[in-house]
Amino acid sequence: MTITDPHAIDINDPERILEIAKANVDPDEVLHAVKDNADALFTWDYGKGQRAALDKLYEKAKRSQWNGTTDLPWDTDVDLDTYEPTTDPFELEYFYDNPDSPLYNFDDKKRHEVDIESFKWSLSQFLHGEQGALLCTAKIVETVPWIDAKYYAATQVVDEARHVEVFSRYTNEKLGGAYPINPHLRLLLDEIINDDRWDMTYLGMQIMVEGLALAAFGFVHSTTNEPLLKQLLRYVMADEARHVAFGVLSLQEVYDGMNSSEIRERQEFAFDAALRMRDRFMRQEVWERVGVDQRDMVTHLLAMPWEMKAFQRLLFAKIVPNCRKLGLLDAGDGWLRDRFTDIGVIEFENYEDTAEEYVNFDLVEGDDAPFADRA
Ligand SMILES: [Fe+2]
Ligand SMILES: [Fe+2]
Repeated sequence: MTITDPHAIDINDPERILEIAKANVDPDEVLHAVKDNADALFTWDYGKGQRAALDKLYEKAKRSQWNGTTDLPWDTDVDLDTYEPTTDPFELEYFYDNPDSPLYNFDDKKRHEVDIESFKWSLSQFLHGEQGALLCTAKIVETVPWIDAKYYAATQVVDEARHVEVFSRYTNEKLGGAYPINPHLRLLLDEIINDDRWDMTYLGMQIMVEGLALAAFGFVHSTTNEPLLKQLLRYVMADEARHVAFGVLSLQEVYDGMNSSEIRERQEFAFDAALRMRDRFMRQEVWERVGVDQRDMVTHLLAMPWEMKAFQRLLFAKIVPNCRKLGLLDAGDGWLRDRFTDIGVIEFENYEDTAEEYVNFDLVEGDDAPFADRA
């Protein structure tokens, strides 16, 4: 990671955000290689169920599998000319009613274009994030020392393959193709895979990236009227809630045994990841596509008043309580609490953590479970 001292950089400098984007764009790239520095570990201790919570999660995962090809209504017609994606009412006001906004004069047609492109962009980043999860979980199978965690992670590899499959199919068949990966997201995924400490894969992917994804999926799921997407997200969320729980349950044990300087490295890693994720929501690629200057728009977004950023902040609603549960918020001198206060997301610290919440989303035993007959 490169942002270790938040006092050495201005986290709200638009130039920093735009520079990262410029340095990381190769539009012709098809394959992207990242050096994975971690050791692959065999364990000869095959005692299943030594970690009861992980074992329970593994058994649940085996029963909750679904088929992306046959369990979703792919014949649903999505007409982008009439489709109205979920929008953030605060953003609409800030974009279109504000004379300082680069979008101030946009008419209804142009506003619809922004909505549709933002929707495509979001779904595209979901797709790329899912591939990041696929690679990270395969890495966890190799690097985690416990057999119960290897078993569980193997089910997650299948889950993530299914998620890549359904988001890829949705963006291609219903949205006319995907945007490339956002440079901030790509950098974050590179950093997570590159790290040689096995627990950092968990912290980066299972807690930070998947925690944000779970909140974002939940928001779109509860607001969209598009039946295919709604069902797709319901199924994906059932899996993701288990994935975040896997991260929390595994890391609790590891962090309990760490000294303060090791914990501080984890706090810094978590904050760097949070910042990369916030930066990606500037969605520069969308502004370029609708003909708005990226620098003007990023500057405008960074200047958005605190009270209007409610939806942006909500994306951290799963991450902050999980960091608290892991003891990362207040360890040492409360470094991470201060940083989450800086970026305005500390308000979520007392929300429900995800260690047990996955039960509500479960496809067999959760609320409105579609596979209740398997119980
Ligand atoms: Fe996923
Ligand atoms: Fe996941």
